[in-house]
Amino acid sequence: MFVSLEGPDGVGKTTQAALLAERLRAMGLEVVQCREPGGTELGERVRAVLLDPQVTMGDRAEALLFAAARAEITQEVIAPAVERGAWVVCDRFIDSSLVYQGIARGIGIEPILDVSLFATGGVLPARTLVLHGVDRRDDEPDRMEAAGADFHARVAAGFIELAALEPERIRLVDARGAQDEVAGRIWDALEGLHP
Ligand SMILES: Nc1ncnc2c1ncn2[C@@H]1O[C@H](COP(=O)(O)OP(=O)(O)OP(=O)(O)O)[C@@H](O)[C@H]1O
Ligand SMILES: [Mg+2]
Repeated sequence: MFVSLEGPDGVGKTTQAALLAERLRAMGLEVVQCREPGGTELGERVRAVLLDPQVTMGDRAEALLFAAARAEITQEVIAPAVERGAWVVCDRFIDSSLVYQGIARGIGIEPILDVSLFATGGVLPARTLVLHGVDRRDDEPDRMEAAGADFHARVAAGFIELAALEPERIRLVDARGAQDEVAGRIWDALEGLHP
């Protein structure tokens, strides 16, 4: 079973991915945790380039670098794990590209979806939880995060817009409140998938 956690920077994705993985493991299930971009040798190197504030790049180059990292992690990590019946909990996946590059950078959802599905060979999460409603950013911004308040607002709105386009796969989860409250909402939003 492949699920992804999505949402703007600092909304609690990484925290909730860890709590979800822990809960599934406590049930005796094999869980593979991954994050995007990254998770492979190539992916981690691409991640370093993408997040480096010293590196400038055009929107299309950025979109293709994300796609390259995604192609690699899908082929090397995600597809084999799903194949053997493990759970895969991914911190960001295709929907981050649809929102950041497609909507917020203005390339358009369609071309980014085409490139992304080419990258994954058609693989999509069975369910995607979009966290929304809080901003807990506190650390130094990386290149993506340094894009400014306007960009961040477009990203937050973009995730809501995207969720409405694919209501069966993508579920909005209120990220306000204590970690275990949010974890409970995520568990409920995975209804029908977990034991
Ligand atoms: N429910 C919560 N209540 C209070 N603090 C939280 C909660 N969830 C996460 N945090 C804290 O908020 C900060 C941001 O959370 P986290 O790193 O999980 O977000 P993220 O969405 O992964 O961010 P990024 O996009 O930067 O990777 C962290 O310091 C985390 O410990
Ligand atoms: Mg994170």
